[in-house]
Amino acid sequence: MNFDKFFKSKRKKVNNNLYMIDIIKSKPIPKHICIIMDGNGRWAEKRGLPRTAGHRQGVEAIKDIIKVTSDIGIKYLTLYAFSTENWKRPKKEIEAIMNLLVEYLHRELENLHKNNVKIVTIGDISVLPTKVYEEVKRAIHKTKHNTGLQVNVALNYGGRSEIVMAIQEIASKVANNELNIEDIDEELISNHLYTAGIPDPDLLIRTGGDWRISNFLLYQIAYTELWFSDATVYWPDFSVEHYLDAISDFQNRQRRYGGIVTRKDD
Ligand code: FPP
Repeated sequence: MNFDKFFKSKRKKVNNNLYMIDIIKSKPIPKHICIIMDGNGRWAEKRGLPRTAGHRQGVEAIKDIIKVTSDIGIKYLTLYAFSTENWKRPKKEIEAIMNLLVEYLHRELENLHKNNVKIVTIGDISVLPTKVYEEVKRAIHKTKHNTGLQVNVALNYGGRSEIVMAIQEIASKVANNELNIEDIDEELISNHLYTAGIPDPDLLIRTGGDWRISNFLLYQIAYTELWFSDATVYWPDFSVEHYLDAISDFQNRQRRYGGIVTRKDD
């Protein structure tokens, strides 16, 4: 291997990224990005490795993405780590994902905290294995006063069950005369979701080539811009370059929210 060439190309990449970050920062930046980190299993299978190796490499990809999200000054990042449907996977794979989560928090928490990152979860974490629950709670507690990037980790999360939970809560408030039916509006429903107080995502990114939402933030993404990677880009391959491409693509879109753009002479 020609090391000189290798370092030159690496430096060029880093410089390009810094240049891209400057351009992104000169335009309105998204407040909230959410990511469906898909393709870990296929990444591993393509290399003849067990699926868990893909999840391990997927965790590595998260580190750079959190750093650059924070560097740009984006306020919220939501990562789909484990869905309510993921319990259907083989027990061994579930265990591996849970262990990786614990390992990641154990290893990275100090660094995240130093960088003012706040960790929050969305989903029902009460049913997670005790070890995972405790590590997650520790991360939430330690970072709760941080004021930088907020990373929402979706764990045992499902968009439909979140909506069901919100309806049950609202219905019980109505039954107890704490709320009138006329009080129920879009904002009230938002305030009963796990994401209460967090602005709706501006941009949803999905890697791995599938064009679907997979029960992620169903209520919140009504006007979110969607960005799907090429089928060749599995989550472990998702680099800072891809991420910056997705954000600058988002910045070049025109969001109309169902309205029209009026021209000067209209
Ligand atoms: C999707 O790939 C990935 C998952 C279901 C798990 C993602 C979880 C982690 C990387 C663990 C840790 C998370 C954090 C926040 C530290 P897939 O297995 O569905 O891939 P496939 O579509 O190729 O089968």
